[in-house]
Amino acid sequence: MGKINVLSAQVANLIAAGEVVDRPSSVVKELVENSIDARATKITVEIKNGGVSYIRVSDNGSGISSDDMPLALKRHATSKIEKAADLNAIFTLGFRGEALAAISSVSKVRIISKTESATNGTMLFADGGEIVEVAEAGCPNGTTITVEELFANVPARRKFLKKDATEASAVCASVEKIALSHPEISFKLISDGNIKVETAGDGKLDHVIFSIFGKDFAKRLIPVKCGSEGISVHGFIGRPDNVKPTRNFQNFFVNSRFVKSRTAMAAIEQAYSSYIAPERFPACVLFIDIDPSTVDVNVHPAKLEVKFSNEKFIFDTVYYAVRNALEKNTERSDLVLRSPSVSTSRSALNAFVPVIDRVDVKEFSPEQLKIDTLGTMAFHSGVSNEYREKARAEATAPQVQEEKTFAPKFSPLVSDISVPPSFSKTERETSFPTIDNVENDNVPIPEYSIIGIAFNTYIFVECDNKVIVIDKHAAHERILFETLRGKLKNVSVAPQVLLVPITVSLSAVDFAAVCDYEDSFREIGFDFECEPSQKQVKITQIPSALKISDVEDVFATMADRLADGTGNIEITKQDVYEKALYQASCKAAMKGGRRDSDSDVRFVVEKILTIPDITVCPHGRPVVVNLTKSDLDRQFGRE
Ligand SMILES: Nc1ncnc2c1ncn2[C@@H]1O[C@H](COP(=O)(O)OP(=O)(O)OP(=O)(O)O)[C@@H](O)[C@H]1O
Ligand SMILES: [Mg+2]
Repeated sequence: MGKINVLSAQVANLIAAGEVVDRPSSVVKELVENSIDARATKITVEIKNGGVSYIRVSDNGSGISSDDMPLALKRHATSKIEKAADLNAIFTLGFRGEALAAISSVSKVRIISKTESATNGTMLFADGGEIVEVAEAGCPNGTTITVEELFANVPARRKFLKKDATEASAVCASVEKIALSHPEISFKLISDGNIKVETAGDGKLDHVIFSIFGKDFAKRLIPVKCGSEGISVHGFIGRPDNVKPTRNFQNFFVNSRFVKSRTAMAAIEQAYSSYIAPERFPACVLFIDIDPSTVDVNVHPAKLEVKFSNEKFIFDTVYYAVRNALEKNTERSDLVLRSPSVSTSRSALNAFVPVIDRVDVKEFSPEQLKIDTLGTMAFHSGVSNEYREKARAEATAPQVQEEKTFAPKFSPLVSDISVPPSFSKTERETSFPTIDNVENDNVPIPEYSIIGIAFNTYIFVECDNKVIVIDKHAAHERILFETLRGKLKNVSVAPQVLLVPITVSLSAVDFAAVCDYEDSFREIGFDFECEPSQKQVKITQIPSALKISDVEDVFATMADRLADGTGNIEITKQDVYEKALYQASCKAAMKGGRRDSDSDVRFVVEKILTIPDITVCPHGRPVVVNLTKSDLDRQFGRE
């Protein structure tokens, strides 16, 4: 007697339903996505008890005709695709014809719908997937779907539901993400009679962000807009002073579908390197619009993950879009005064920064950069002898590190830097804009007066009807970092040949990635032989600035990131390289708590006044905060 049972359609449906809907929020997601596909401009979601007892989604979309109504609940019944080839390029959020079948098999569902051309609407009621009643109904154009007693017939699933409040929060998060993805649609979520989400539907993404995340979040954003070869990346990223302790504020939309993308996440996080502290995460609402034939949305039951035909292309585009936006950002933080009457909307974020945003790099000739063999640096940049002496002493004396630093893997080489290097313009150069690879004419220094220096750490400067407070160490550190970065990236360096080759063993996928991108590895200075039988790479030559002890680590990281679409060789090298510069800049910069000469202080102040894109130190701390006169007036009740 055989052991294999053919399951009944009902059991098969329950199994399938488990993949598509596991809690109220996934039901809401599916219903709202249907409304979007029906081109609704107004969608209202109402839930009770976190959605467990009651969910209702109403829209003003195209509606379901009376003929189609019974088919809507059938498995694999959809109006969105017809044939296998349609799966190659999906333009709608739904396409599997599974959601309503899944939802109706685990609840009581009532659909009331009317198309524009029909005189009357239709009502359908189903219980546990069985249609109980279909009747004519008077209703406006559009569709209203009510789902009651979710999972009442699946106790195993029901017992995994959390408290109503937790389920309600998950529904809220789901509606928020969908609302962000469609600013042109007006959304409303009502939970137990209270409005939780409400968006205007005026097509403005910043308005949706404001209504969902609030004013404080919305005002600390940087717009991103970048397009090339069949891809567009646009939206907003959080300023470095608007970073989060978790990834919960990272919102990526591929062709307006909310997705969790490791590739996009890695790209944005690597782009923020040198702008935020390592344990912080950037926030974003980023749209990646690409040819639907280059993205597969049919790889995840809830369609939350997608597969790109070229992950590296997506990585590169998102990385450079974000990086360029960050580097162009000139917004600095406002000093937040502790007073309920302080209205942040009135802070003059833009009032201070001078219009011209270029540093005078002419004063920094290549000879002025001296880097010693230890990788420490003394930077001769117009700072007085007294300061230089202090910096030198600092670089050699054992010291307690003021800042969290990173172990440098690439160490800047004396031989390459202290002699006038040859500067080669590379293709990538445009992708790594820094303050000194742009034209810089004489930038006018605005009128200012230094009020004083508090704690030998914070410089108070009055300028243009506001007081700016500069953290002298953080500011100087960023100035040095940017200047070094600009210089060093253009230095053409001969790769170093290894006397003893280094063998790196890789996993099968990482080895395959090295083989695929062999030329790119060679372009940055690696030379190696591949031994496919052992999945080993025998490295015979390395980029000159790479430390021998780090070769294995860096090479394996590059291969690993390439293999899972979360990196690019050039960017990884740049990243590692920059981290080496953090340490050098940190050591050489003025120290908080120590006295500096007037000329040194003025040097930093004038740089800050003339280079608005210096906003944070390489560890992500702000270099400047602004305090406007009106903020002070309000604090003292003068307004
Ligand atoms: N709000 C709605 N307005 C108009 N038609 C709808 C609505 N909801 C569902 N439908 C119709 O019912 C069909 C079945 O919906 P269902 O969600 O089950 O499948 P789908 O959206 O086609 O695919 P998927 O399972 O991937 O979501 C849809 O193809 C659509 O024709
Ligand atoms: Mg659907």
